[in-house]
Amino acid sequence: MRKKIIFGNWKMNGTNTEVKAFLKLVDKKVKNTDVVAGLGLPFTALQTGVKKAKNVKIAAENVHFHQNGAYTGEVSIAMLQEIGVGYVIIGHSERREMFNETDQSVNAKAIALLANNMTPIICCGETLATKEAGNTVKFVNAQIKAAYKTISKEDAVKTIIAYEPIWAIGTGKTATAQDAQDVCKAIRQNLAKIYDKPTAEQMIIQYGGSVKPANIKELMEQQDIDGALVGGASLVAEDYIALINYN
Ligand code: G3P
Repeated sequence: MRKKIIFGNWKMNGTNTEVKAFLKLVDKKVKNTDVVAGLGLPFTALQTGVKKAKNVKIAAENVHFHQNGAYTGEVSIAMLQEIGVGYVIIGHSERREMFNETDQSVNAKAIALLANNMTPIICCGETLATKEAGNTVKFVNAQIKAAYKTISKEDAVKTIIAYEPIWAIGTGKTATAQDAQDVCKAIRQNLAKIYDKPTAEQMIIQYGGSVKPANIKELMEQQDIDGALVGGASLVAEDYIALINYN
């Protein structure tokens, strides 16, 4: 039985003072043996997060795939490793839309993270137009195929996928549990073709897009949904605690 992996994604929110205060409120209250609790934080707050969190895994929200060099403003894997970060969200739709993240750069980042024993949380998801055209599964599976290019099955099981329909992010329009299940099942069927069924069954697929304490339980009850990646609701301590302790 796959454990549920529920991460917050604070995006461009959170000073060190706010992260300290948040973790003081939540860290002791998220000791859920059935759930791995995590939190994506801005680069500037990661060290504080790692230092203050005992029961919450800390994730960066991006990383560069080159080891170092003339990439102004970027952060390397070694810099994240030095401060104890073990997870990195990559390919978020906001980075694909606004910061030139591509299927190719997502693949390069995933390969580099796995080579350094870190866990990529690989985001995928379609626009409303793609959904309305009935092309969701085709689009998302193309993203997954590109993200996992040259990645072995032994490494694939070390990754996390986050299916986040763009039309559900920050809109309050959560996908229905059935719709989310249908896409996550299609992703898993695709992974079985890329690798094999046992590998696909081991892999973690999160749902993200307006997940709230009120709707998380039904989403987590779906057979092919193994967790959540939560934006807005993860910023509020009592909501974050309710999300992790959904069961
Ligand atoms: O990465 C999670 C995020 O994109 C979802 O945001 O605010 O819809 O939960 P939100």
